[in-house]
Amino acid sequence: QQETALKERIKQRLKEENAVIVAHYYTAPVIQALAEETGGCVSDSLEMARFGHDHDATTLVVAGVKFMGETAKILTPNKRVLMPTLEATCSLDLGCPIDAFSAFCDQHPDRKVVVYANTSAAVKARADWVVTSSIALDVVEHLSAQGEKILWAPDRHLGDYVRRETGADMIMWDGACIVHEEFKARGIADLKEVYPDAAVLVHPESPASVLELADRVGSTTQIIRAAQELPNKRFIVATDQGIFYKLQQMAPDKEFIIAPTAGNGGSCSSCANCPWMAMNELEALANVFDQSHNEVFVDPQLGERAMVPLRRMLDFAA
Ligand code: 13P
Ligand code: SF4
Repeated sequence: QQETALKERIKQRLKEENAVIVAHYYTAPVIQALAEETGGCVSDSLEMARFGHDHDATTLVVAGVKFMGETAKILTPNKRVLMPTLEATCSLDLGCPIDAFSAFCDQHPDRKVVVYANTSAAVKARADWVVTSSIALDVVEHLSAQGEKILWAPDRHLGDYVRRETGADMIMWDGACIVHEEFKARGIADLKEVYPDAAVLVHPESPASVLELADRVGSTTQIIRAAQELPNKRFIVATDQGIFYKLQQMAPDKEFIIAPTAGNGGSCSSCANCPWMAMNELEALANVFDQSHNEVFVDPQLGERAMVPLRRMLDFAA
């Protein structure tokens, strides 16, 4: 009953404020359902950026993590961007502070700087290109074909995967996602013995040993598409559990099992759950318009510089 009241309040405030919810697949099912019901979007980080940019609402409520809110603000500086909490960050963003990253770039002036979207506005402002996992392979392939050498940051697993697939000359920052890094190849192989018919779907932030077992590797959107396209009736999924809401919606006749993480041979209800994505709670969303500390600001000069590689990404993906 309290949930119903909170949802009604959010719907009313969205209308009053000419606002729309832009949610990631990793948020709680109740948040994703509300975003859909109110004309917002539920998507991967690339589509979130595009949706916020193209939508005519004057306020974007970004249900995700900080870099997603910052990206929305950089791309649409004239819109008000709110988040249920600005404390929702990402281990990749935290592990790539601008001063150390900038020094790393300075040591390699001959390389194109390609950064993952999961970074701060300052790191993006230092980059030539921003990519999400949906288009990382295509962008690096494109640059490599032009003879460019790459400096990649911050996710080393995704970077290693891109290097293996494209053969590009890449050096890496040493970052990782605390959620995906926990998936264990051994546990997945054990599960495959129990369910030999299951296809394995893996996000490329996972370790190489896990990627080796994958039937498909891809971004969240690509994982959802694979579940629809592949003939298998059962899937072992190595990414955040929030995605199960959309997987079940898009492939209702199929069964999804979370890939095992550390010390866990079978499935697990609490693992593979990004703690920062989980901060996007209904109550925080209901208060988002009425508190002063929920608005995302990006220094305008920094934003202008970060806009360049971000726009490059959106134009490339178009
Ligand atoms: P996607 O771009 O695939 O949605 O990934 C974002 C993310 O944070 C993965 O952990
Ligand atoms: Fe960052 Fe990993 Fe959470 Fe994605 S799942 S937001 S990469 S910590």
